[in-house]
Amino acid sequence: MKISVIYVSQTGRTEEAAEYIQDGILARYPFAQVKLMNVREEEADLDFLAQSEAVIFGSPVYFSSMSWELKKWFDHSFRIDLKGKLGAAFVTAQSPTGGVDTAIMEILRHMLVKGMLIFSGMGESAAHKFQIGAIGIGKEVEKFAGQFEEFGENVAQTTIKLFEK
Ligand SMILES: Cc1cc2nc3c(=O)[nH]c(=O)nc-3n(C[C@H](O)[C@H](O)[C@H](O)COP(=O)(O)O)c2cc1C
Repeated sequence: MKISVIYVSQTGRTEEAAEYIQDGILARYPFAQVKLMNVREEEADLDFLAQSEAVIFGSPVYFSSMSWELKKWFDHSFRIDLKGKLGAAFVTAQSPTGGVDTAIMEILRHMLVKGMLIFSGMGESAAHKFQIGAIGIGKEVEKFAGQFEEFGENVAQTTIKLFEK
């Protein structure tokens, strides 16, 4: 199982969240291959992306939307085929009312246009969490570590259910 995490991070919070997601996947599924790609700083690994069954997108919230760098990545992604892959989204923000839902929905809409299968990250035992995606609020992202880890684990679990025969 390969899972790509495509994200943008300027001051490190979304990157920290991505690392917790990776930890959550690997803790439960140590055979998984997870690649974190900060597309603000590097090109995505297109071979790994093509081989990934799931792609998790992450962004800081900017003006209640995804960051312009992630939007730019989507806008330049015409030739990157993500059809049929499982997709999920997470964001970090300064405020719980700063637009986390609208930013996640914006990312999910872009995934739909790419033909992806959308997953909230919801787990079997935690129906109240991750109703549309995962969030971290404020400077101390580590407060949300457990939630990001669980989100990653749930995405991996659903990836296996869908793709492993
Ligand atoms: C240009 C800009 C716009 C922002 N707009 C919002 C916003 O609308 N709502 C919010 O809650 N936080 C907003 N923030 C705060 C960031 O979303 C937050 O600090 C985020 O965790 C930063 O992620 P990073 O450390 O991965 O770059 C904004 C930050 C910047 C730089």
